[in-house]
Amino acid sequence: VREVVVDAQEWDERYREKELVWSAGPNVFVEEELADLPPGRALDLAAGEGRNAIWLAERGWEVEAVEFSPVAIDKGRALAERRGVDVTWTEADLTLDPALEPADLVLIAYLQMSWDPFNGVLAHATSLLKPCGVLLVIAHARRNLEYGYGGPQDPALLPEPEPVAALLTDGGLVVDRAGEVVRRVESDEGTREAVDLLVRAHRPGMSRV
Ligand SMILES: C[S@@+](CC[C@H](N)C(=O)[O-])C[C@H]1O[C@@H](n2cnc3c(N)ncnc32)[C@H](O)[C@@H]1O
Repeated sequence: VREVVVDAQEWDERYREKELVWSAGPNVFVEEELADLPPGRALDLAAGEGRNAIWLAERGWEVEAVEFSPVAIDKGRALAERRGVDVTWTEADLTLDPALEPADLVLIAYLQMSWDPFNGVLAHATSLLKPCGVLLVIAHARRNLEYGYGGPQDPALLPEPEPVAALLTDGGLVVDRAGEVVRRVESDEGTREAVDLLVRAHRPGMSRV
């Protein structure tokens, strides 16, 4: 059972504990949802060690990875260098609405926090999306508590798709997909399933291609 980690110092400690806390390759839903998008400028918010940011950079995206743990950023920077790609790393607390340039893709993966401030982060992410830009939100879902493996065990940190979709709609986005998806996890007890939230939306506008 994972502890609830709340501030940058605690995240730093967790990132110091082992070489890679997350995988070196991208999250399965990031890959499925984004592999066909034409590259542009991407923001990876709460990028961790950069597994998704680096994968996007390898596909030709100009990526800015935003993260509040300096240890995670150092690890991400080293990983990007080893993989031979450029990623811009920005140390910032997302709950403080950091000033960022608009992007064609905004990704938020597994940023587990209570609805307030999470709703503020989502609203800020929405405001950073260019016309035709795509916003992808992936998280451990509330239903994971009952039906899935791993993730935070506090329901307050586990969002549900409906309020996320409603907030993005209020921000002028068109929601293309909002629901739950099942991810296979290799654990010490064998292969298990985790229930994730997946919300994908875009800002209407003229096509970039
Ligand atoms: C579960 S990890 C996910 C990392 C990455 N998105 C991935 O999928 O590999 C959550 C990340 O959110 C970061 N984080 C948590 N709260 C944050 C905040 N307020 N501002 C910026 N980053 C934050 C943590 O440091 C951690 O790296």
